Amino acid sequence: MDLKALIRDIPDFPKPGILFRDITTLLSDPAGLKYSIDTLAAKVVDLQPQYIVGMESRGFIFGAALAYKLGIGFIPVRKPGKLPADVHCVEYALEYGTDKLEIHKDAVAPDGRILIVDDLIATGGTAAATAKLLQEIGANLVGCAFVIELDALNGRSLLPDVPIISLVHY
Ligand code: PRP
Ligand code: ADE
Repeated sequence: MDLKALIRDIPDFPKPGILFRDITTLLSDPAGLKYSIDTLAAKVVDLQPQYIVGMESRGFIFGAALAYKLGIGFIPVRKPGKLPADVHCVEYALEYGTDKLEIHKDAVAPDGRILIVDDLIATGGTAAATAKLLQEIGANLVGCAFVIELDALNGRSLLPDVPIISLVHY
């Protein structure tokens, strides 16, 4: 399936110079959404994850659907002040600004096998921050999966040495 045909390009969003890869048009396409989740599942199943960690907010959409498909749990990584129990927090750089991410300290049993899932990797700041959070809570990162990878930004260079899977490259 041609996933790129379902991803909409929006120039100069949210800032001048950013070419925004809009996945809302992929999400609203039943065949495209199903293909995305089924293909991600086929590519990651051998990593034998026990949990998926997805980042707010677009990572929740693909991460939760993939967790359901694989029959495993989903753990949210959230923007600050949203998680109710004790958290670890990291600050990270975006392609267009800075932000913080948090995870519940007790989200994962020690050595739990984790797959990070997000819609897109750009600079890699979000995924690298999430990997750092997982290290702090003693989890075992077994891979990272994205629908979209922006190759020119080389975000994967910030990630630990685990398999990195992307369905579409720009
Ligand atoms: C987007 C995207 C990834 C991140 C990728 O999220 O969903 O999480 O940017 O960029 P990076 O690789 O340079 O860190 P954003 O922070 O815009 O939040 P959203 O999902 O709530 O729209
Ligand atoms: N997140 C970071 N960079 C992005 C881009 N170019 N398009 C969509 N989401 C993004």
